[in-house]
Amino acid sequence: MRILILNGPNLNLLGKREPAVYGALSLEEINQKISVLAAELGVEIDLRQSNHEGKLIDLLHSAAADMDAVIFNPGAYTHYSYALRDAVKAIGIPTVEVHLSNIYAREGFRRRSVIAPAAAGQISGFGAAGYLMALRAVVELAPSWRKNVADPNR
Ligand code: DQA
Repeated sequence: MRILILNGPNLNLLGKREPAVYGALSLEEINQKISVLAAELGVEIDLRQSNHEGKLIDLLHSAAADMDAVIFNPGAYTHYSYALRDAVKAIGIPTVEVHLSNIYAREGFRRRSVIAPAAAGQISGFGAAGYLMALRAVVELAPSWRKNVADPNR
């Protein structure tokens, strides 16, 4: 099984950026934890980050060809990028949306995800552990999620 772990804008600044909200770990440190778990679970991962919407879309498109699932923290694009939502919907492989913070306990504009209706599920509020939960979820559930995302009304 191959899984794309995709992080969006400003997540390259983790560790320095609002640590009270997003935690003290850098993205590199989080990726290290993900790599350790992936090895334990026997899955291959591709770790990517971009601050650019179009680049994130391109990476999602490429994932359709050679990945079984995506774990995606779209950063602030979560709240308004219909282009990313369309890409998640288009690729036909399950995507788990992850947020370090609990977006539902924050400012009003963060309480809505336009990506979530296209995702297989969402994990929000557990810090870096959310990526590890998502990885376990993907390994456990990816085969059955494939059927669920085929529903055109989602
Ligand atoms: C975030 C939440 C978003 O609202 C914010 O813009 C981020 C990070 C999170 O992981 O909690 O960049 O996606």
